[in-house]
Amino acid sequence: MHIDGRTRLCGLIGNPVEHTVSPAIHNGLAELYGHNLVYAPFLVKDSLRQAVEGAHALNVLGLNVTVPYKSSVIKYLTGAEPLAAQIGAVNTLVRTAHGYEGHNTDMPGLFRAMTSEGVTIRGEQVVILGAGGAARAVAFLCAREGAGHIYLLNRSLEKAEAVAAEVAAHYCDIPVTPVPIAEYERLPGGKYLAIQGTSVGLYPDVESAVITDAAFYAHVKTGYDLIYRPFETAFMKRVRAAGGTAFNGLKMLLYQGIIAYELWNGVSVSERMAAEIYLRMEKEMGIDV
Ligand code: ATR
Repeated sequence: MHIDGRTRLCGLIGNPVEHTVSPAIHNGLAELYGHNLVYAPFLVKDSLRQAVEGAHALNVLGLNVTVPYKSSVIKYLTGAEPLAAQIGAVNTLVRTAHGYEGHNTDMPGLFRAMTSEGVTIRGEQVVILGAGGAARAVAFLCAREGAGHIYLLNRSLEKAEAVAAEVAAHYCDIPVTPVPIAEYERLPGGKYLAIQGTSVGLYPDVESAVITDAAFYAHVKTGYDLIYRPFETAFMKRVRAAGGTAFNGLKMLLYQGIIAYELWNGVSVSERMAAEIYLRMEKEMGIDV
């Protein structure tokens, strides 16, 4: 890596940031492209406004935003593109003359990951587990992509109901049904695309799945977990044990980063480059491949 007077800086703001894999994505892409760019993590404990304004003053090219600032950062931006405004969460800041514009690359990242893995949404019965920030973005994606029916399963029904109402307000022709997660047996028969968006099963809680009943998994054709630590979650194991196909969230992480890099640098990352970066991410995470 050669750092000189023309090196551009990008980075990640959040708390915590220590376990991020994003530097492997962006520094990897900069290396493959030969761009004079460095990506670094910035732990922001408070002072979010100063962090955003300070980054702009320091000519920082772009920032990713992670927990807990994806919504609270919006008030410090010049604006948010329609998709980010719709889901109320921003994970990428793109530099403009007078400040940063907010983008959401999580949702298009998940879509590109699913497309690359041959998973389709159109016309499918989609079961979304969870109604937090991540699950909410997934619900908007599935509605936009023309899911046949969306079932939103959550421990607290009010949250599922609130997300369902918001999605229905934007996409009135897609049926969205909130269901208490304990009542998953109320789901109709057939085969589902199930997307796991709760925090259950996240390292170190690796043995837990939000639904454990094999009868539920018998209906899962494709299971998509947004978690990527561990690499194979308890949810994924259950999907596979029932004969379904399962994916983790690492490709979503890859593509949200790639789309952010494309926005910052005005490039279009090829699938060959994406595959190379994915290998580096696996290595970074200590996954034996
Ligand atoms: P994120 O932004 O990552 O989506 P979040 O907004 O905190 O995180 O959402 C966490 C999700 O995991 C929620 O859907 C939460 O359910 P509640 O809305 O009922 O809290 C779900 N969740 C967390 N722990 C859970 C548990 N032990 N059982 C069932 N659902 C759980």
